[in-house]
Amino acid sequence: MTFKHVFTVAAALVLISGCSEHKQPNFMYMPDMVWSPAFKAQKEGSMRMPVAGTIPREFVPYPFPNDPARAGKELKNPFKRTSSILARGQAKYNVYCIVCHGPNGEGDGHIVPKFPRPPSLQSDKVRTWPDGNIYHVMSMGQNLMPSYASQVSAADRWAIVHYIRALQRSKNPNSEDVKEYAQRNSH
Ligand code: HEC
Repeated sequence: MTFKHVFTVAAALVLISGCSEHKQPNFMYMPDMVWSPAFKAQKEGSMRMPVAGTIPREFVPYPFPNDPARAGKELKNPFKRTSSILARGQAKYNVYCIVCHGPNGEGDGHIVPKFPRPPSLQSDKVRTWPDGNIYHVMSMGQNLMPSYASQVSAADRWAIVHYIRALQRSKNPNSEDVKEYAQRNSH
């Protein structure tokens, strides 16, 4: 063995042992929760409640919790009836509403009659309701129907309103729909 060899082996040993003897962790970039203050479970401070009135990000508080009439009058659907909004409304309706209200809103969802049959969304009442009243029911619930405000965002609730209108017009086309249908089928 030459001196060069001995030196190389020694250097390798130093390197290897250096690797295994980390007494100090390396430099910590953004330690996040490594050094979190420890609380005993259930002790004061460990389950601190948010400040009163705190709302989650992007949560829009509902302005008329006790006033459906005002909701009907004052709330306007912020979205235009575009095909992407209708697709979004359809997707959400099919997740959150269809189980009770059925594919066309007629109250024939597949958990009925285990769950009491809801009234039809095709009724004259709901067809002539302003958008804000449908939005109100989704936001606040109504009798047996729970509120969907925590599961369906405000934007998605408005998209669902557009989709319900489309379901209604598919059963009760207005003159605009009839004209469009005739035009599309005149070629
Ligand atoms: C668990 C079953 C269930 C689900 C899910 C459900 N609903 Fe309902 N819904 C009902 C029942 C039951 C009623 C009737 C409540 C009552 O007696 O006033 C109702 C009432 C309504 C009404 C009022 C109809 C009227 O004539 O007064 C609207 C509008 C409505 N639901 C829309 C929706 C929408 C939109 C969704 C999805 C976000 C939804 N519901 C999800 C059960 C449900």
